[in-house]
Amino acid sequence: MTEPAARQAEQIRQLAERLAREAGAIQRERYEGELQIQTKSETIDLVTDVDHACEKLIVDALAELRPDDAILAEEGSGEDTAEANWRWIIDPLDGTTNYAHGYPRFCVSIGVEHNGTGTVGVVYDPMLDEMFSAVRGSGATLNGRSIRVSNEVDMGQAMMATGFAYDVQRSEDDNINHFADMVKAARALRRDGSAALDLCYVAAGRFDGFWELKLHPWDVAAGIVIVEEAGGRTSDFSGAESCRTGRETVVSNTRLHDAMLEILRH
Ligand code: IPD
Ligand code: CA
Ligand code: CA
Repeated sequence: MTEPAARQAEQIRQLAERLAREAGAIQRERYEGELQIQTKSETIDLVTDVDHACEKLIVDALAELRPDDAILAEEGSGEDTAEANWRWIIDPLDGTTNYAHGYPRFCVSIGVEHNGTGTVGVVYDPMLDEMFSAVRGSGATLNGRSIRVSNEVDMGQAMMATGFAYDVQRSEDDNINHFADMVKAARALRRDGSAALDLCYVAAGRFDGFWELKLHPWDVAAGIVIVEEAGGRTSDFSGAESCRTGRETVVSNTRLHDAMLEILRH
């Protein structure tokens, strides 16, 4: 990155943190309150009025403050123009099922690309008041303190995490084979319902690895920057390609990456 781009990235990080905090405040205030719940792709794929309110807050602010930037936001607002240098990839509420059930594990996830490269990542957990944040080349932080992935090299002592796509009830490509293999190989395996936080937990050394199928760019855009800046590795299931589409996502402390790929190969 050139010097002016690096300065802009830092300003964008600060703006992303502010907007994530403001959206997170909405989530906290409305937590366990009355929600309007609708379904999307499947009967188990929910969206609430809080998802929409959070996205509106972020997209309206960007329209005013960064009108030239492109926006890809999960609930469909904002304009994703190909000419823009900076592109915001937003999951206004990651963990909607948890939110709708009053399970306190969800977040706001904001990733920003510069000319196609993931450059800024911000993930805010409003219930724990935890702000995960990174700018490419500047390291990753949790509430301002530097974070690193774990040093674990032994799968038998590793804490792994995964998730299931909303088509799990009808798809054969349902991740249950991998779940069964990993639960036998690792010390522990969690399915906690917020992919963006799962990536950040790998970055912070709380999880040693995470994988999932059929995620979307907004689930992983911020987390990829945060994990890589914390010394972790991200890829698809082959290990050769990026996981930025979310279609196949493998995230690790680097040391366990090849062992994870081996298990997921079957
Ligand atoms: C979902 C969560 C969940 C993952 C799903 C995602 P949403 O995002 O990240 O952990 O298993 O695949 O779609 O719908 O709550 O934004
Ligand atoms: Ca999501
Ligand atoms: Ca979401």
